[in-house]
Amino acid sequence: MTLKERIFKIIIKALIFLKKDLDVSRQRMLFYSTMRKDVKEMDKDQLGQLIRFTGHSLDKATKCENESVGRGKEKKELLEMAINEWERRGYAMGPDKIWAKEILKRYNLWCDGSSKLIQPSKEQIEAEIDNNLFSVIEHRRSVRFWKRKKVEREKIEKIIKAATFAPTSCNRMAWHFFVVENDFNNIVEGNSTNKDMLEKAPVRIYLAIDERLYPEIYAPAMDAGFTLQNLVLAAHALGLGSCLMYHCESVNQGWFRSNFNMPDYYRVYCAVLLGYPDEIPSMPARVSVEDATTFIEGSNKHNIGKDYFGR
Ligand SMILES: Cc1cc2nc3c(=O)[nH]c(=O)nc-3n(C[C@H](O)[C@H](O)[C@H](O)COP(=O)(O)O)c2cc1C
Repeated sequence: MTLKERIFKIIIKALIFLKKDLDVSRQRMLFYSTMRKDVKEMDKDQLGQLIRFTGHSLDKATKCENESVGRGKEKKELLEMAINEWERRGYAMGPDKIWAKEILKRYNLWCDGSSKLIQPSKEQIEAEIDNNLFSVIEHRRSVRFWKRKKVEREKIEKIIKAATFAPTSCNRMAWHFFVVENDFNNIVEGNSTNKDMLEKAPVRIYLAIDERLYPEIYAPAMDAGFTLQNLVLAAHALGLGSCLMYHCESVNQGWFRSNFNMPDYYRVYCAVLLGYPDEIPSMPARVSVEDATTFIEGSNKHNIGKDYFGR
């Protein structure tokens, strides 16, 4: 490589790095400027997301032994304020808002110690399931408690194989899967905090992507997403319970580089924790198709100017 080519390469690398950094800063700014707002200043979309987001935090908290671990207190206040604001504005209470209200009630019961975790019965879930694809999709849940039982190697290989049938941009298939099997000599009890889950999961699968052949910024993350969706659905179809854990910024990429010689052009995007389920999680209700969709018919001219978003 000539000196000129080398300098060119360094400049391109620096530009890509800078662009990624700018994207991350933009994302953080969007997040913090939303979270700093009073609920009264939020638009409908922000308020809806805040209700689902804080509802999820309280749902997770109720699976912990006590409040100090679950850390749901401030989220509870935020959820109450957000729901009150939603109702004050007279917006329709879709299934996701009704679910969040239920979670709030459950959290209050859990706080005063009068209620333990409420789960749907096994019979109820089994009666609803058949092997149709839609049923597998609808019944997969994030599972955060597992039996202290080894997962057979054939099953792990089968679900990774299913993951490799996912579509990838330009057919790149730039994956590498790291599988960490728990020998159960470490602590395997614990709550549903990320740290506890990482320690007790019978299996952790980390997905890394070789980013060298992507000129697009978001395609590697999308490829990871499609792949992981196949993986968690396949795990569910085989009777395993999984939970995704976003890892891009939080994981120690260096651990993979130093222990497994992972080259610097690979990035670990996500971990999937899995094992035989030791809980039957209830479903966080979904937003309605109507609320999340805009059908655009024909030339769309007559719709110009209409606001489709919850601003
Ligand atoms: C990209 C991504 C990252 C996630 N990270 C975490 C995580 O760090 N910890 C966790 O407990 N759940 C995590 N989840 C699981 C979500 O909380 C869960 O999918 C959501 O609450 C909906 O519940 P369900 O999967 O049971 O339908 C993650 C999910 C996705 C898609």
